[in-house]
Amino acid sequence: MAGKQALNIVKMKNMKKKGVPITMLTAYDYPSAKLVEEADIDMILVGDSLGNVVLGYNSTIPVTLDDMVYHTRAVARGAEETFIVADMPFMTYHGGIDESLRGVRRLMQEGHAHAVKMEGGEEIADTVKRIVQSGVPVLGHIGLTPQSVNQIGGYRIQGKDARDAERLMNDAKALEAAGAFAVVLELVTEETAAEISKALSIPTIGIGAGRYCDGQVLVYHDILKYASPYRDKRFVKTYADVGTIIRDGISQYVREVKDRSFPAEEHVFKTETKAVVETTLYGGTKEKVGTTS
Ligand code: KIV
Repeated sequence: MAGKQALNIVKMKNMKKKGVPITMLTAYDYPSAKLVEEADIDMILVGDSLGNVVLGYNSTIPVTLDDMVYHTRAVARGAEETFIVADMPFMTYHGGIDESLRGVRRLMQEGHAHAVKMEGGEEIADTVKRIVQSGVPVLGHIGLTPQSVNQIGGYRIQGKDARDAERLMNDAKALEAAGAFAVVLELVTEETAAEISKALSIPTIGIGAGRYCDGQVLVYHDILKYASPYRDKRFVKTYADVGTIIRDGISQYVREVKDRSFPAEEHVFKTETKAVVETTLYGGTKEKVGTTS
């Protein structure tokens, strides 16, 4: 949006204080970023969910740093005035601080992200702290952390019992202490997410974490049903059925090319000529292809 003032992490904290919900949606390429920015979103997430929804993998684990840089750069071209967070992909922040900082540098310098997101709690707090100290805003991500799906044993709701809720609370506090500017809570029970949101001074951004988070994030392809097959998820609301519109549109195009109703008169270019020219096209049909100019 021309003239729009991009959100920053100071404004975000103030939004929490004032009780103004923070909006976040994923985008993965230039057109999706442009459309999301035009809808006046607060923040864009270039999520490694692009592995599932754009690249056709069945998890986020195969997504590489090169994939993230490539997609983040396209998003940055489409949303020049929106705060962009890029995911650090699988295993790019567990091998030592130098490797982590190299990944962060690529997402910021080559991808043009404003911040990075990392999955994990207490166990990554030291790394988060070092990255924040280097001047890079970090968005935490706890609860269901898809990069650890094989360890968690599937896409399960987190924080269901008191012990699990306490673990999540400790993770959230560790990220806050490390300097994270906000924390994503994914697939966390509403009660646990509400308690964490109350306990933190930084915003919580929920996905499947109920109504009491400070903001909400969802996946572009989910709210638009832009997938085939589309699998319903309880925590997602469909705002438009773009998949059906696209499929119907393409089917109609195929039909019209087959029955020669496309291209029609209004889609063709004419050779400039002084006379009306008649010629025989497409197996014997008489068509006018030129008019007196
Ligand atoms: O990768 C992603 O899109 C995410 C959101 C689901 C929070 O991490």
